[in-house]
Amino acid sequence: MIYRELGKSEIKASAIGLGTWAIGGGEWWGDSDEEKSIQTIQKAVEAGITLIDTAPAYGFGKSEEVVGKAIKGIRDKVILSTKCGLWWNDERGSKFFEQSGYQVNRCLDPDTIKQEIEMSLKRLGTDYIDVYFTHWQSMDPYFTPIEKTMECLMDLKRQGLIKAIGASNVSKENIEEYLKYGQLDVIQEKYSMLDRKLETTLVDTCLENNLSIMAYSPLEQGLLTGKIGMDYVVNPKEARAGIPWYQPEKRIKVINMLNSWKDLTEKYDCTLSQLVVAWTMWQPGMSHVLCGARKPEQIMETVKASEVKLTEEEIARMRKDVLSLDD
Ligand SMILES: NC(=O)c1ccc[n+]([C@@H]2O[C@H](COP(=O)([O-])OP(=O)(O)OC[C@H]3O[C@@H](n4cnc5c(N)ncnc54)[C@H](OP(=O)(O)O)[C@@H]3O)[C@@H](O)[C@H]2O)c1
Repeated sequence: MIYRELGKSEIKASAIGLGTWAIGGGEWWGDSDEEKSIQTIQKAVEAGITLIDTAPAYGFGKSEEVVGKAIKGIRDKVILSTKCGLWWNDERGSKFFEQSGYQVNRCLDPDTIKQEIEMSLKRLGTDYIDVYFTHWQSMDPYFTPIEKTMECLMDLKRQGLIKAIGASNVSKENIEEYLKYGQLDVIQEKYSMLDRKLETTLVDTCLENNLSIMAYSPLEQGLLTGKIGMDYVVNPKEARAGIPWYQPEKRIKVINMLNSWKDLTEKYDCTLSQLVVAWTMWQPGMSHVLCGARKPEQIMETVKASEVKLTEEEIARMRKDVLSLDD
């Protein structure tokens, strides 16, 4: 495994992290098997993954609870990241989405953040969070200026409840604002070989300011593992429904591209998910790649991506292939 710095925090975390959104189950992902989820997290740690990412919103507390059970006794081996800012406990915040009977609002008010961290620490069975992210940014009508949010986060840091501050789903302007009021070390954003917007929007700002990037959904929720065929039917409520690449006319192009990399998977004796994650983790600025898994065999497969050392020519060839999908 390769370990990389998280901004200026002096924390190092595995370049491949385990994402636990699916472990939360619910409408987005369908039911998850708790025992298998716990094994997945523990196997990940045994295999050298230190970075475990979760959030209160993943299964409305479920993912954090399962992570808490899994890391009992091994807390010191884990760099734990969780989040604040998606609020469903009362009417505070700006309406964001409805899910499983809950109205979820965006809220980065210091009062709700203080309540959220207490609940997260309890569910996770720990007394500190390594990286605390604002999950989605504040918006009107219940808008909290970043100055106020950052003041609260810096205070949590002074109290030792969190070790580093991160922000997720941000704009360049948001980053500049966070940096004005405290120490931001990392952002967490959607990035995969099929969704490279970040390269033109935020990567330069991150490199200039020594900010790490945790790339999320690098496998496009399973599509880039090769396991999703043309027969897979997307349920309109599942998380995958929001990804355009699952539409049949686009999906077939992705499947054909993956099939055309057979020479590479043979050369490296690797699987497609390993090849894809290996490509992702060596893109400029992508210091950490958060790979979701809820079955031990999935993470045991993905973790070996750090052993696949693609040549520059191969990285360029794969980029050319993904670019041609947009034609
Ligand atoms: N900050 C944010 O707003 C945000 C948003 C999205 C995600 N994230 C974080 O990023 C993490 C990763 O993103 P993600 O979970 O959306 O998607 P992902 O990593 O692109 O895909 C994860 C899914 O792909 C399938 N998969 C993974 N490894 C596999 C393997 N080796 N073979 C076959 N299938 C495999 C599994 O699907 P099945 O479980 O169905 O088998 C798994 O749940 C999340 O868990 C979360 O921690 C953050």
